[in-house]
Amino acid sequence: MQALLGIDIGTSGCKALLIGTNGAVIAADTATYPLSQPRPGWTEQDPELWIEGARKAVAGALAKAPGVEILCVGLSGQMHGLTPLDADHRVLRPAILWNDQRNGAECAALTEAAGGLEGLLAATNNRMLVGYTGGKILWMRNHEPELFARMALMLNPKDYLRLRLTGEVASEVSDASGTGFFDVRRRQWAAGLIETAGIDPALLPPVFESQEITGRISAKGAALFGLPEGVPVAGGGGDSVIQTIGSGVIAPGELQTTIGTAGILAAALDVPQDNPDGKLQVFCNVAADKWHCMGVSLNAGGAMGWYRDTLCADAPPFEQLVAEAAESPAGARGLLFLPYLNGERCPHPDPSARGAFIGLTARHRRADLTRALMEGVVHAFADMHALMRPMGIDGRIVKASGGGARSALWRQIQADMFDCDVVTTEGAAEGAAFGAALVAGLAVGVWPDAATAARCCRDLTRESPDPAAAHVHARAHEIYCSLYPALSDSFAALGDAIFDQ
Ligand code: XUL
Repeated sequence: MQALLGIDIGTSGCKALLIGTNGAVIAADTATYPLSQPRPGWTEQDPELWIEGARKAVAGALAKAPGVEILCVGLSGQMHGLTPLDADHRVLRPAILWNDQRNGAECAALTEAAGGLEGLLAATNNRMLVGYTGGKILWMRNHEPELFARMALMLNPKDYLRLRLTGEVASEVSDASGTGFFDVRRRQWAAGLIETAGIDPALLPPVFESQEITGRISAKGAALFGLPEGVPVAGGGGDSVIQTIGSGVIAPGELQTTIGTAGILAAALDVPQDNPDGKLQVFCNVAADKWHCMGVSLNAGGAMGWYRDTLCADAPPFEQLVAEAAESPAGARGLLFLPYLNGERCPHPDPSARGAFIGLTARHRRADLTRALMEGVVHAFADMHALMRPMGIDGRIVKASGGGARSALWRQIQADMFDCDVVTTEGAAEGAAFGAALVAGLAVGVWPDAATAARCCRDLTRESPDPAAAHVHARAHEIYCSLYPALSDSFAALGDAIFDQ
């Protein structure tokens, strides 16, 4: 049987997924690995863990599908990670990951050197967020000058896997967008900004379109990963970009929501719309004639996990909490939740933002708190949607993914708040690895274009809006939107060192 292999280098593990040329899942396997936090706010991973994880996951998937013929491999991975390599392609230090917070000073200095936020947006159409790769390169230059002097190349996580699979040095437009050094409008490195930053452009890999073939499995790669030599490897894409096509979102009017640890609202763009104030992330799409717009809220499923573990003494299963929440009405009896538990990225780029339940009364029960929390996560999506509207993005259907999409109530809240149907789609539960397998298929002509590939993502479930609930949410959302501006100074003040004992 002919198959496409998607490999996703995630933050907590690697997934390998085989799909058929009809888009149906054949087999999957996952191998987990740890993340290290050597200091508060630092997150690192030894790239060898990714290689070992990929070896195990690929072997596991192949063992479940004996005799498949792999037509092409597509790669995906956690975005923004810095893997610094020397001239012999040896890893110089553990990779610095997307959720690492160490380089605020470098991002601020680069923004100033670029002529402020306006200058940066003109060059890349994005802010230089602390998570992005660019600030990490500058951090190494400032804090690890000896290692930096030996650095000959930097790669994002999936591109390091590509190097080990094929021997080729290459990236593609979606991950390059997430470095903060990429001219997203022109789909090329932002040469002027890179020069302003004083970075040698040779440190950055050549960039391909996501659907281009960037190399073939080498003899070494074949021996290491148990894959046949010569199989082509497509560019692939960063996880939060490639999973959008993997949820079937490619046309105007389609929105993707992901409730994982973080919450992501994403849509495809036909033109590289300007990113006002840089509050959204506007990246190149894995479809060569499209762009990608997303807002990332740092607190979605993660907020639910915190709530369960911290405020629910019996730490009930999520299913039980959600079943209770279904007994509370839309609007949770006048209770709102601000989800900014770890600061926020979008729509408020504010590391000192804080979470809050607003409107508590003695009559509120746990069911109301749980429901308010679930609604708060969706209010944050609605906030991002409002930022996207001036770009012409107007959701008429939501394709829900991530762990949160397993809850019918969370999908219903999305239908009521967006006032449109919410579906889940086939393959989306496999995450970014499914998008990577679709892109592999595009690279070898299994599908003629991204829109056709996206049609493999057939609808599985559908929730439709309830007008009465939609009415309540619309009023609640107005109040929700007034809360952050009213509280942001208090949030900053609560971060004062006096409270940090
Ligand atoms: C996207 C982002 C995350 C990472 C980790 O900007 O920071 O989605 O890609 O998965």
